[in-house]
Amino acid sequence: MNMKTFVWVIILGAQCPFLINCFEPVSGFVAGVAGIGSIIYTGFHGLRCKIFVCCDKSQISLNIQGLREDLSRKLHGQHLVEKAVAGHVMGHLQSVDPHKALVLSFHGLTGVGKNFVSRIIADNIYRGGLRSPFVHLISATKEFPHEGMVPFYKDQLKQWIEGNVTKCERSMFIFDEVDKLPSLLLDVIKPYIDHYLELGGVSYRKAIFIFLSNAGGTEIGKLVFEHWQSGKQRKDIKLSDIEGSVMVSAINADNHNGLWHSQLISNHLITSFIPFLPLEKQHVRACIKDDIIKKYPLHFPNEHEVPEDYVDEVMQELKFYPPAEQVFSVTGCKRVSEKVDYVMMDKVLPKQNSRQKLLEL
Ligand SMILES: *[C@@H]1O[C@H](CO)[C@@H](O)[C@H](O)[C@H]1NC(C)=O
Repeated sequence: MNMKTFVWVIILGAQCPFLINCFEPVSGFVAGVAGIGSIIYTGFHGLRCKIFVCCDKSQISLNIQGLREDLSRKLHGQHLVEKAVAGHVMGHLQSVDPHKALVLSFHGLTGVGKNFVSRIIADNIYRGGLRSPFVHLISATKEFPHEGMVPFYKDQLKQWIEGNVTKCERSMFIFDEVDKLPSLLLDVIKPYIDHYLELGGVSYRKAIFIFLSNAGGTEIGKLVFEHWQSGKQRKDIKLSDIEGSVMVSAINADNHNGLWHSQLISNHLITSFIPFLPLEKQHVRACIKDDIIKKYPLHFPNEHEVPEDYVDEVMQELKFYPPAEQVFSVTGCKRVSEKVDYVMMDKVLPKQNSRQKLLEL
């Protein structure tokens, strides 16, 4: 509907009380008013959504192709994650009426891609990605630092979830550092991700919850190292080889935090436990190349152009374990970016840095 008709409809709508005698019979008048009302409403909705951000298709829609591509090209060394995330996200988003909220629990050591994958998911569902008003990143240490305030935190968290899902059913909540959440705080979420049809007139079944935690990371590392020692291929590791021990170590977390003894686990409310494997040298090299390409696109338009000895130099700045075998990166790809800055400082000539080159073009 264009602006002119829209204004016209409003004017006509405003005149309605005065035209009351012109319409016969009365039922025709009622139908007319209802029709005009719905046109006005649709017009308003469209207009409102042009000005404000609305919880509709223009803001929220799954880009399947993009999700698949990002997971396979930008994420390195996580074949289990690739398959599980793509499958669960597609299943949930494509269902008009999912039977419960999607709850993914990401486990792994630092720098293996847990935050990165939640960003990929957000980017391929929400316009604006993590900055979308429908995506909520909740950091345990920032938002819930004091053990003694758990009763207050519980109320607050409940309000956040209810408030945000009432505004938009397809809201996404990412909980960072779940292993540092005060114990049993997460159980507050249980009613929202249970199979309840509706709670106070609001359906929570379209919501997405993602938990990021280091819990289970050490066990995953051990299993992957044993697998490596026995000379088997990394890609032959199956989800079923690891999933169980991740779940057990999350339940039994030593610090009694996060998902420890959580009803979310005992009631099988978590859609999937997704293990992130520790990264090997080849994966870290791929991360280094990605970072160099991102920072110096004019010098190195693709991975084949990045000199291997630059990558070697960055690799020397990173630590690997176990001490004897040196197989896995201690910090995954986490410290890659700062090490690249350091190494590249005297590589790319100052007078030829990408910004100046851009200006010359
Ligand atoms: C939505 O969640 C955020 C936390 O990410 C919170 O600050 C905000 O108050 C919530 N909105 C509502 C309406 O509850």
